[in-house]
Amino acid sequence: MLQKTVMILIAVALVSAAAESSAMTPLEELGEFLYFDETLSEPNGQSCASCHMPSAFFVDPDSDAPVSQGVLPKGRWGNRNSPMSAYAFLSPDFHYDPVEELYVGGQFWDGRAANVVEQAKGPFLNLLEMNNPNKRTVIEDILRGGYADLFIEVFGHDALYIRRNIDEAYDFVAEAIGAFESTDLFAPFDSKYDYFLQGYDVLTEQELSGLELYEGKAMCNACHPSEPGPGGEPPLFTDFTYDNLGVPRNPDNPFYTLTKKFNPDGYDFVDLGLGGILGIEEEMGKHKVMPLRNIAMTGPYMHNGIFKTLKEVVEFYNARDLGGFPPPEVPINVNTDELGDLGLTSDEIDDLVAFLHTLTDGYQLSAGAKRMAAAHTASGYALSSNYPNPFNPITSIEYSLPTTANVKLEIFNVLGQKVTTLVDGEQNAGHYSVSWDASNASTGIYFYRLSSAGFTETRKMILLK
Ligand code: HEC
Ligand code: HEC
Repeated sequence: MLQKTVMILIAVALVSAAAESSAMTPLEELGEFLYFDETLSEPNGQSCASCHMPSAFFVDPDSDAPVSQGVLPKGRWGNRNSPMSAYAFLSPDFHYDPVEELYVGGQFWDGRAANVVEQAKGPFLNLLEMNNPNKRTVIEDILRGGYADLFIEVFGHDALYIRRNIDEAYDFVAEAIGAFESTDLFAPFDSKYDYFLQGYDVLTEQELSGLELYEGKAMCNACHPSEPGPGGEPPLFTDFTYDNLGVPRNPDNPFYTLTKKFNPDGYDFVDLGLGGILGIEEEMGKHKVMPLRNIAMTGPYMHNGIFKTLKEVVEFYNARDLGGFPPPEVPINVNTDELGDLGLTSDEIDDLVAFLHTLTDGYQLSAGAKRMAAAHTASGYALSSNYPNPFNPITSIEYSLPTTANVKLEIFNVLGQKVTTLVDGEQNAGHYSVSWDASNASTGIYFYRLSSAGFTETRKMILLK
């Protein structure tokens, strides 16, 4: 417990450091307070960060249990494994894609919340998590707390108004948390693999072999795409769809032991995933394809935390259909096309796992790689960070050219679709500043790419309306 407290303090310190450098808006800053506030549970002691701690790669730091414990420790366990809260905001809103005939996007393993703002309304009132009896207790705690003034300032209503309009106030809370969860902190894109894609670092032979298997024989990128987008945007390792992989029940899930009040089915409980939410038979047993960023750090794995190591996960994909694994938790709609009998050797399994380890954020470039990056800069080309960032609706982008060159400066959205071309043509050597007016674009992350013969660089920016 002490250890946990220390980790929270470190997490807040790290977040504050990050906050200073990227200048958060008051709304995001408010979201940060709410996200870390352990007085917003009943009793006190649990915050969003308890189960999605930035220093633990945005999951529950207790990786021994397959699922997370609520604030009332006496046997109150949730039924599912905590996913990362990082990168979650990049999932599109939950919707049905009529062309692909698939459900896409949303939050939670079963997609029951449309986006991170809607998601944030859940945990405070979940009796197996933060356990507040109603929205009012959450709002009262906030109004009694140290950042009540900021809450009032951001939303422009006095405390009395807020107390009278509890539903609206509760929506404000979710809005602020969603804004905080959409900051750079939640999308660092600084893994070894990112540096590799940008040409700043190399993968080892084993990691390269793993990447080749990932995109080839093992078919992982059929659902967890690993290629950068057309504008060089970093991959998210999920196509945001839903699938039943035939994951077996996890007999060690403590949720089975809960009283009838919380788990009426006892040991017969079956997690129906998306189908349970929609009541559609074809979707029964399907869970969301999760992003694989930080995956080496975020075990246990799968919706019920059944696998403790990445090796077990890959062995399951490799040999599900060869006996040796218990039957699927939900026997219908099981995917038999892309997994189950991949024919990977044990060396290949190790290579694949080695590749998955390159997806961990916070990677420190080696001295050699730093030299590569420096050489890149010494070429005389340079693309600076846009300013301001986040912005609304105008930001400026500066770059330098060492010689006369044909240059393109283009903007892409997270789906890799080109939004606009700001520069396209020959320019003389020199320093340039171009501004982008994003009045017609919607809130989100965008990427700007400067390209010329022998030089390409992509950077990200955030439009916040
Ligand atoms: C007791 C642990 C716990 C607490 C506290 C908690 N969460 Fe979660 N979180 C989970 C679990 C478990 C899931 C998956 C639940 C499911 O799919 O049914 C989840 C899912 C999520 C997701 C969806 C991620 C995705 O990719 O689908 C986000 C975002 C998230 N939580 C953010 C938050 C925020 C914000 C708070 C505070 C308001 C919070 N969580 C509090 C355990 C927790
Ligand atoms: C057919 C689509 C599909 C393919 C192919 C696929 N996955 Fe997945 N992956 C999923 C889905 C869906 C889940 C969540 C399943 C669940 O929990 O029931 C998942 C979950 C995972 C998880 C656990 C995520 C977490 O947060 O706990 C890992 C790790 C993983 N996949 C790795 C891989 C690897 C490695 C490969 C290639 C060998 C692969 N996947 C191939 C769809 C796929």
